[in-house]
Parts: sequence; C-alpha cells; structure tokens
Amino acid sequence: MITKLNWKFKTKYQYYLVDTIPSTNTYLKDNFNEYPDKTILIALEQTNGRGRYDRKWRSDKDIMFSILLKNNGNYEIITPLAICLALDSYGFKCGIKWPNDVYLNDKKLSGILIEDVFQLKFEASIIGIGINMTDKESVMGIGLNKDIDKYDLINSIMNNFDNLNKLSHDELINLYRERSIVYNRKVYYKDKIYIAKDIDILGHLILDDGNESIVVSSDEINIKESLI
Ligand code: BTN
Repeated sequence: MITKLNWKFKTKYQYYLVDTIPSTNTYLKDNFNEYPDKTILIALEQTNGRGRYDRKWRSDKDIMFSILLKNNGNYEIITPLAICLALDSYGFKCGIKWPNDVYLNDKKLSGILIEDVFQLKFEASIIGIGINMTDKESVMGIGLNKDIDKYDLINSIMNNFDNLNKLSHDELINLYRERSIVYNRKVYYKDKIYIAKDIDILGHLILDDGNESIVVSSDEINIKESLI
C-alpha cells in the first residue's frame, strides 16, 4: 500500500512510501497521470528493480526511490551531482563515472535510471535512484556501511537537486566535469582502444586513440562493459 509520508522534509515534494513494489520507476511511469509534478515514491523493497540496459537492480535494505517531474531538465547531469554533494556532507567523497553512476573508492555506490514518458509530447521524467547501504560483493558494489537516516539523506539529495536545477547548463557541466572519474581510463570501442579525455559541453564523452578524437553519447556505448 502506498501511503503519504510525513517526515520533516524541507523540500517541496510530495513524498510517498511503499513497503514493497515491483519497481518505483515502473509504478510512476504507469501512473504519472495520477500524481502531481514533484512526487517522490520511496520503497523499502523492490521485487523487480530495474537498472540501465535492461539490467536488474537488486537491493536489500538499500535506498530506492523515484522522482516524478513534469518539466524537462538536465537530470542526467543534476542527479549524480546532487547525490555526490549530499554525500559530501556525510564525509563520503564520491565521483561520477560517466554518464551517471556514482562511485566511492572506485566501486559503484549508486545507480540512476532516468525514463521519459512521451504521449505525442513530453509528459514526464521519472528519475530512479538506488544507493547501496551495504556492500554488494556479487556485483562489486560498495555500500555506505554507516548508520545513516535514509530520509535525511533523501532530503539532502533533493535539496541539492533543487539548487542545482537553478544553475545554467555551463555551470552544471563544469561541476560535473570536476566530479568525473573516467579521465585517462582506457576504453574499448568499436574494435579500438581509446583514452577517455574529456566530457564535452553536451555531456558526451571525448575519446582519443592518439590519432583521432571521437565523441560518443551514452546511447552509443555501454561504458561499464567498455572500460578496460
Ligand atoms: C543502474 O545503475 O543501472 C540504475 C539503477 C537504478 C535503480 C533504481 S532503484 C529505484 C528505481 N526503481 C527501479 O526499478 N530502478 C530505480
């Protein structure tokens, strides 16, 4: 059962809580018409959590929530930054593995799944966030492993999210670049080995093989499988 959550959240979102659900992203995607802009659904358990590239997102007592937004925005950039900035205040120094995974000590801590709903026109974006509270040995994931109040962390993420949402595209890209951890990593792409050099103003990855530079978008490359 989905219930309204009354906690001292400082941000102007409607927060809902569900004990168990297949996926908060799927639910908000299917029911976006029934909820207003700025709705957040937090789950204690997901039975069919979804990740990028149709992967499963398995979690146990972790942080899982989705944000429903009815305006389009720079969410691929803002969301990982908001998570990193929130975690700064807990003493965790995280980086962003392009395009939007949040890493701690070179291991994945948090994943983001952004899905847009179109019905002739743009209707909504659903931003799904999963943050590991404990290590995930099977997928080499790291957890926060600290007694952190989940709502407090979500509140801080959303606070940072709203502040970042007010910045210009250039300001956001600069902050994003500063957090990136892919520079100088080797990338295997279309039978060649490149070095990840930079991220351009559109958020695309610039690869260089010593002879030429190419630009790839996150739709063109599965970075997890391509990093050497
Ligand atoms: C990834 O790294 O592949 C993205 C993982 C996103 C997981 C979150 S958990 C809350 C929301 N509901 C889902 O089914 N997925 C996202």
